[in-house]
Amino acid sequence: RGGINPYLFQMASVREQVSWVTEDPDDATRKAKTLAAAAVNRVNYHQSLATREVAVHPDVLVVGGGIAGMQASLDIASAGHKVYLVERQPTIGGHMLQFDKTFPTLDCAACIGTPKMVSVGQDPNIELMTYHEVDEVSGFVGNYKVNVRKKKRYVDVNKCTGCGECAAACVVTNVIQIPERPPLPMMEPEEESALEATLSSHGNQPRDLIAMLIDINDELGYLPRPVLTNLAYRLDIPLSHAFRVATFYSQFRFEPIGKHQIMVCQGTACHVLGGKRILQTVSRKLGIEPGQTTSDLEFSLDRVACFGACALAPVVVVDEKVYGGMSPAKVEALIDDLVARNENHEEGIVEEIHELKPESYAEELR
Ligand code: SF4
Ligand code: FES
Repeated sequence: RGGINPYLFQMASVREQVSWVTEDPDDATRKAKTLAAAAVNRVNYHQSLATREVAVHPDVLVVGGGIAGMQASLDIASAGHKVYLVERQPTIGGHMLQFDKTFPTLDCAACIGTPKMVSVGQDPNIELMTYHEVDEVSGFVGNYKVNVRKKKRYVDVNKCTGCGECAAACVVTNVIQIPERPPLPMMEPEEESALEATLSSHGNQPRDLIAMLIDINDELGYLPRPVLTNLAYRLDIPLSHAFRVATFYSQFRFEPIGKHQIMVCQGTACHVLGGKRILQTVSRKLGIEPGQTTSDLEFSLDRVACFGACALAPVVVVDEKVYGGMSPAKVEALIDDLVARNENHEEGIVEEIHELKPESYAEELR
C-alpha cells in the first residue's frame, strides 16, 4: 500500500522462537533483542524483486515406472496432459510386481500392477520410454529441459515380435554350463502312490499342474518337497516353476497339517482391531509361525486375508468354527481349552470361550 517493493520484508518471530520456548524472562528478553537486531541487520541485504509472468510448459515428465510412477502418469494423463514416463529397466512395473502379496488386503501384487501396466501402455497421452535414463535436468519450474538417454537394445523394437528365437542363437546363453541335475529325492510309499495317481489321471500334462497339486494336497494334506521335486521332473518343468505356482495359492501347504487348524484373519477390519497381536499371541503360544505345524502335529497356524465376517472382527477360525470379537487373552484361553480337551481325549469344538477379564478387547486396549 505504501508503494514499497513487497519483497523488502523481514520478520523476527519472537512468539514461536522466544515466548513459547524460553522460560526464563531475562533469557527471553535477551534472545528477543538478539533476534530483532539480526532481522534489522538482514534488511541491509534486501534487494527489490520484480514480478513477471512466464509461460509454463504443461507436459509432464515422470521418472520411474513403478507403481507410484504408473499411477501418477495415469492420473496426469487423465487430466489431459501429455506425460513422458521414463523407466531405466526394459519394462515398467517396478519392485511391487516382484512381491507375492500386498498390505493390507494381501491382494496379489501382479493383479494390481498388471492392469495399470496395460493402461499405461495404451494411454494415448502417455509416451512410454522404457530402457531410458534421465541424464540431466536444467531450467526451472514449468520450463525444465531434460536430457534422456536411450540405452542400446541391439534389436529394432519396431520389428521385434517377441518370438524369442534370438535366445536360441545367443552366444552368451550357449556358453553357460548347466550343472547336472542332482538325484531325485526318495518318497514315502503313500507319497509315491499319490503322485502316480494324479499323473495317470492327468496324463503327465504340465498344463494340469494346479489340478495335480490340488490332488496331492488333498490326498496327503500338504505338498511334501520330495513329491514336488519328482512331479517337476516327471512334467519336465523347472522345480522353481512348480514352487512358484504352489506358493502363490495360500490353500497349498508345505508342512503336514495339524489336528487343529487355527486361522487368524489379517484383513483390514481385523487388522485395525488388533489382528496382528492376536496372530503374534498364537504364534508365541504354540511356538510356530504361520504356515507351520507344531512338532506333535496337534496345531497348524495360518493367516487369512478375510473370512467375510468383518462385522465380527477380529476373527479367528478354529477347525472351521468362527470366533468373533477375539483378543490376545481370549485366543490364549481358546488354545488352553483345546489343549485340555486333547489331554482329556474329548472330541468336537469349543463352543464357548470362557468369560475373561477384561471382558472386551476395547477395554483391554484402553
Ligand atoms: S528373433 Fe524374435 S525376439 Fe529376437 S529380436 Fe527377432 S523378432 Fe525379436
Ligand atoms: S477382515 Fe477379518 S473377517 Fe474380514
